[in-house]
Amino acid sequence: MKLWGGRFSAEPDKSANDFQSSIRFDSRMYLEDIEGSAAHAEMLAKKGIISAEDAARIAAGLKDILADIEAGKIAFSADNEDIHMNIETLLTARIGDSGKRLHTARSRNDQVALDLRLYLKKAISRIQGRLLSLIEAILDKASEHLDTIMPGYTHLQRAQPTTFAHHIMAYAEMFKRDHERLEDCLSRTDSSPLGSCAMATTTYSIDREMTAAALGFSSITQNSIDGVSDRDFVIEFASCLSIIMMHLSRFCEEIILWASHEFGFVALDDSWSTGSSIMPQKKNPDIAELIRGKTGRVYGNLMSILTVMKALPLAYNKDMQEDKECIFDSYDTVEQCLSVFVPMFSTMKINKDRMLSAASGGFLNATDCADYLAKKGVPFRDAYTITGKIVRHCLENGLKIEDLAVDQLKAFSDRFDDDVYEYLDLLHCVKERNVPGGPAPDRVACHIEILRRFVEDSKSDRKNQQDRS
Ligand code: ARG
Repeated sequence: MKLWGGRFSAEPDKSANDFQSSIRFDSRMYLEDIEGSAAHAEMLAKKGIISAEDAARIAAGLKDILADIEAGKIAFSADNEDIHMNIETLLTARIGDSGKRLHTARSRNDQVALDLRLYLKKAISRIQGRLLSLIEAILDKASEHLDTIMPGYTHLQRAQPTTFAHHIMAYAEMFKRDHERLEDCLSRTDSSPLGSCAMATTTYSIDREMTAAALGFSSITQNSIDGVSDRDFVIEFASCLSIIMMHLSRFCEEIILWASHEFGFVALDDSWSTGSSIMPQKKNPDIAELIRGKTGRVYGNLMSILTVMKALPLAYNKDMQEDKECIFDSYDTVEQCLSVFVPMFSTMKINKDRMLSAASGGFLNATDCADYLAKKGVPFRDAYTITGKIVRHCLENGLKIEDLAVDQLKAFSDRFDDDVYEYLDLLHCVKERNVPGGPAPDRVACHIEILRRFVEDSKSDRKNQQDRS
């Protein structure tokens, strides 16, 4: 007989039962469900709603169930629909009537919202930890390549000289923002809906603040209808995860390009590449490609959750059970992608010579040539046009700007002097861009320092949080 059996004269149809059961995917919330129930029972006893003996039996029963689940001794059943009813049924089978008192002043509607929030709070924090490791890996690599010249691109056309450190530090900024976005998402996930019950709270004088504090929440939800019908925190997390994948996919795309024969800027380590079943010469960047590909499913999950929630009337509807597969899949996917990206990236070899020779063609120093003239008093627009003419001349003759003798340059403008060659040197071009946010090695070194501090501070916050809980 079902837990809710009283009103029914027939057992559910087997297919209907299997169709609506969520135990396949919500059993991963067993710990949160047990913790939530334990806090609820303790509060019920403290408020005199159940006896202290019942509460003690419930606490001990839940503890045994937890130990048995973790020892792999429990087979959950689809007949008990979800993790909440599975655990309650197990509890009652073990401790009898006390178990039947656990669900006083509670509904599965606030229970599932509670469990999911508890679970996602940990998930958010895990992803943040992975992001910190990734940022550190970028900082380590960047420190080694402060003066590794590479072409910077716009429209995927060579644009201006930069350094490999400057380029990858752009990604460090993205992942820092992702970390901050998750922090913000965490602040709204960190609110306890327990006590909302089915939708309109309860006639028992429960203490919502007590359970919230016991479970480590920093606030309680303020409207019981919202408490059970809100899944914004799921959508926000799915959205943060999508943005992380967008960033990872851009990084992977660049690594795939850089690893191509045409670029040859990087070589992936053999242990982070794959071969071809037919072409013996091939070394493929499968890991990076797969991360790029998995971005699709993470975006898809976000669209799924948004669409499930669209136009749902208040308060709880069973549609909302669909939130879990989406968010768990996005979480698992991003966690896995981050965990493989870091070693793939860290073991990647950088081919400085190829980067430098790519930066030496394509007139990356043309802006510097124009700036040189402008600094000697030529209006910038004129300097730009003169340099354009020099570039055309060079293109027609297969030359670089710095290949022209000073007399040849003077034919374009009498302001050219011998000091122009230093000015056209690529490392000089980079060093001269000594503006906050720019590629000058000193600037990038400062940026690395700032982000190192960010990582250190975030790590010590995490440690403090762990010590407190
Ligand atoms: N398994 C359900 C879910 O994931 C739990 C809540 C069910 N509540 C209900 N009234 N049917 O959403």
